[in-house]
Amino acid sequence: MTLKIAVLPGDGTGPEVTREAVKVLDAIAKSEGIDYSTQEFDYGGDRWMKEGEPEEVISDEQLAELNGFDVILLGAIGHPDVKPGILEKGLLLRTRFALDQYINLRPVKLYPGVDTPLKDKGPDDINFDVVRENTEDLYCGCGGFLRKGTPQEVATQEMIATRFGAERCLRYAFDLTRRKKEAGQGEGMLTLVSKTNVLTYCGDLWFRAFEEIGDADYPDIKRDYNHIDAACMWFVKNPEFYDTVVVPNMFGDIITDLGAMIQGGMGIAAGGNINPDPGGTSMYEPIGGSAPKYTGQNVINPMAAIGALAMMLQNQKDDSGNFAWKTAGDRVENAIKSVTPKLESLAAGRMGYSTSEVGDLVCEAL
Ligand code: IPM
Ligand code: MN
Repeated sequence: MTLKIAVLPGDGTGPEVTREAVKVLDAIAKSEGIDYSTQEFDYGGDRWMKEGEPEEVISDEQLAELNGFDVILLGAIGHPDVKPGILEKGLLLRTRFALDQYINLRPVKLYPGVDTPLKDKGPDDINFDVVRENTEDLYCGCGGFLRKGTPQEVATQEMIATRFGAERCLRYAFDLTRRKKEAGQGEGMLTLVSKTNVLTYCGDLWFRAFEEIGDADYPDIKRDYNHIDAACMWFVKNPEFYDTVVVPNMFGDIITDLGAMIQGGMGIAAGGNINPDPGGTSMYEPIGGSAPKYTGQNVINPMAAIGALAMMLQNQKDDSGNFAWKTAGDRVENAIKSVTPKLESLAAGRMGYSTSEVGDLVCEAL
């Protein structure tokens, strides 16, 4: 089948890093005989302002069009002239919800030669996946104001957990843990992160679902549980404890930034907004921002965008439900790993190469 890819380069340095990801895609596709097509969309801050700042950054029709693609590759969103929140909510969160991308998959892997702020930890210690629920929790937008703007103002924001939402996320995480174990890439342990001692409703629902589903269908997978505050501590002190972590949306947002830092920062971290259901359209992205002040200078690190491409190939299913591009994705990841030791200091934001040279190095390594 032809893999139909929608490319959304986005704002700031998004187009520069996305160009390198597409360059690597072209190289791996030639080498592996992958049939693919790309179509570019210019959604982002500039277009939104040009169109007169419409209420919807991306319309229902445009979302339906994106839904017709197999997968989406996103660069970055965030524009210095657009109030924070508008593009994030109107483009990123809206797409996640509309396309029901209910998994946010965030590998936390320290690549060779990349600096981590953790003393005495190396690539063998920092190598796990976070599966974050991506459609519920505090992200539902449920709540409101009473007596807004008065001294008696009241605001509420509700945390929503559904058995359906928890269960589909947990099952995805159990399956991933099992897949990794069977491939010899993990010990087969899934850690639930929540706060059951305080979230006596939402946390309890997740914990019970975790236990029931694990007992019934995943007896081969070890289970562990951490409170969120303790998990923040262990991520720093003993990241080697983790194989796969599953976590509700808001806590997941926070610990995946912590994860990004211990793996060497935003220049390297990639993520997938995944709808794993048949026919679902997922979206892969470097998780760093659009770094507007570096726009057009060819200095920004494209590894996170290339990592997003690797993830896309590793996690995308074909029409028969097989991970048809997994080998290709693994090859891109291995090429990344062979290039990272050549870069100067990613933590300090110095590469010793330009954006496009780094893309070339990855292509050569392939
Ligand atoms: C992320 C981001 C988003 C989130 C923001 C931009 C709304 O931080 O992808 O983690 O909170 O999910
Ligand atoms: Mn975040």
